[in-house]
Amino acid sequence: MAGIPVVERTADLGTWAQEQRCAGRLVGLVPTMGALHDGHLSLVSRAAAECDVVVLTVFVNPLQFGPGEDLAAYPRALEADVEAAARSGASIAFAPPVEEMFPGEVATNVHVAGLSEVLDGRFRPTHFDGVATVVAKLFAIVGAARAYFGEKDFQQLAIVRRMAGDLSFPVEVVGCPVVRARDGLALSSRNAYLTPEERAAAPVLLRALRSGASAVAAGERSPAAVTDLVGSIVEAEPLAALDAADVVDAATLRTPAVLAGELRILVAARFGRARLIDNVGISTPP
Ligand code: PAF
Repeated sequence: MAGIPVVERTADLGTWAQEQRCAGRLVGLVPTMGALHDGHLSLVSRAAAECDVVVLTVFVNPLQFGPGEDLAAYPRALEADVEAAARSGASIAFAPPVEEMFPGEVATNVHVAGLSEVLDGRFRPTHFDGVATVVAKLFAIVGAARAYFGEKDFQQLAIVRRMAGDLSFPVEVVGCPVVRARDGLALSSRNAYLTPEERAAAPVLLRALRSGASAVAAGERSPAAVTDLVGSIVEAEPLAALDAADVVDAATLRTPAVLAGELRILVAARFGRARLIDNVGISTPP
């Protein structure tokens, strides 16, 4: 393995983080499920630039997978992940076995009401509770830190930020821009499921989102007009099966009656085995 320590025990990570703070160091935290790509590594690099030490966590969290989802198939590549994260500036990796994080039945569920049921929560009703619960646990283990999350999972970022505030975790949540391939496809560990044909088709998501954003920039204020446009572009791609196109207020994640202020246009679609999500931000003039 690479030249950074890899710990499996929550107590060891907690002790390490506490020692760092006692030495006056700011701790950066990058939670992941592994199978790292350049999007994850951009979080590690940013954390390394802004903090004194960085912990990368690699844990495929069973709580956030629903029945029939890809928990067993989810890509795992711990050795390569640790090496890549070390090169990007990580100081330590935390890769616990499931029994370490969840030694018994999990009786506590963290639910961020209002933000979790909308958008992807309509399709994955238990997903965001699983995310909020495991991230709360990571925040509790690490303690005071700055934690980095990608905007590709925009709803997740909003939920984690709200959860950290509501539960008074001493953690500053930092959102980081989506990292894309040259053709515009947002990087995702699930892109590994795409066949070459599906991979070639998948950039339709960003094209559709950009068309929606252009419509808003040109003065369109009807949410339905924007989502119909985005959805129709995705549906015109034969290898894509649209799950949803939405335009929401960036803070509340609710669809306003009339588009105004800071907005997020989001899309979710299936390409064969891969369910991909993407989003872009757009604001209307004041
Ligand atoms: O974004 C992810 O990889 C996961 O949802 C997270 C935040 C690591 C929680 O398991």
